[in-house]
Amino acid sequence: MQVFEDKVRLLEGGEAAVSFSTGMAAISGTLFSLLEPGKRVVSIKDSYGGTNVLFTDYLPRYGVKVELCDTGDHLAIEEELLKGCDILYLETPTNPTVRILDIHRLSRAAHEVGALVVVDNTLATPINQRPLEKGADLVVHSATKFLGGHADALGGVVTGSKQTLEQIFRFKEITGASLHPESAYLLIRGMKTLGLRITHQNNSAAQIAEFLECHSKIDEVFYPGLKSHENHLIAASQMDGFGGVLSFKLKGGYEAVEEFLPRLRYVHLAANLGSVETVAGPPATTSHVECTPEEREAMGIPEGLIRYSVGIESVVDLVRDLDVALQDL
Ligand SMILES: Cc1ncc(COP(=O)(O)O)c(C=O)c1O
Repeated sequence: MQVFEDKVRLLEGGEAAVSFSTGMAAISGTLFSLLEPGKRVVSIKDSYGGTNVLFTDYLPRYGVKVELCDTGDHLAIEEELLKGCDILYLETPTNPTVRILDIHRLSRAAHEVGALVVVDNTLATPINQRPLEKGADLVVHSATKFLGGHADALGGVVTGSKQTLEQIFRFKEITGASLHPESAYLLIRGMKTLGLRITHQNNSAAQIAEFLECHSKIDEVFYPGLKSHENHLIAASQMDGFGGVLSFKLKGGYEAVEEFLPRLRYVHLAANLGSVETVAGPPATTSHVECTPEEREAMGIPEGLIRYSVGIESVVDLVRDLDVALQDL
């Protein structure tokens, strides 16, 4: 367990790290150990579905005030911070819309009002983005995804200052959300190839995003590496690579999605992401399965969207696979 924690701590540049049984255990453990009735959290509308449910259903039950802003709207987030804030919780890139937030700018604004900044760095990984270097106080990960990288172990981790991590560690111990030793072993083994995998996945995702962007059956592609991405410049300034996850909207909406997905031959249709195997699915059955269609729409997540997490297969095969599946759609 400690070897895994040390690896993440060193890669992210934290003073200490605490591992958890899952990513959601790391996120809920962080929030519940640092918040109390009367405290206020500012975050975004389209964070990962489980995190969103913590904000909308659970924290308010314990007297914590939560304000969720439109994800790309930096000014709205800054305005909410000025009304008072204890934790600014960010996810960038977001899952599944791959939206980008400026970590440096928002951390500075949060620190001016005395708030702690937590960033979910699951989609980027420390190979592509190190939020602590940009001013964040804590970084959380679902290690189940890219850190482990093989879809065979669950885990979560949080890293940052020693003092804050002591509080989080105590809560983890008491609530029993410990990382299983076998999972720790698998995560450590998976992390040996993290750099290799992420470099490959960055390159493949960029090529696939470019291919899809030019395709007549595709309505819109979301990938921070594309110049057309609304926050490409922010992404370029804070990321060393743009990650292995992209999403796209098919012309023809959800009906087209249902016809298209089973045609993919090299892709697993599953809820996971960040594995060596390519995985795809709509938010309705993956990242935001906990939410109703209306809730997804309110978060700005279209029903016709497909999240595509690129594996380490040959990118030539993956592009051909997509091309064939898009024919006669
Ligand atoms: C960005 C992000 N954070 C947190 C989680 C939750 O992680 P876990 O499945 O390990 O509980 C996920 C899961 O998909 C995720 O995508």
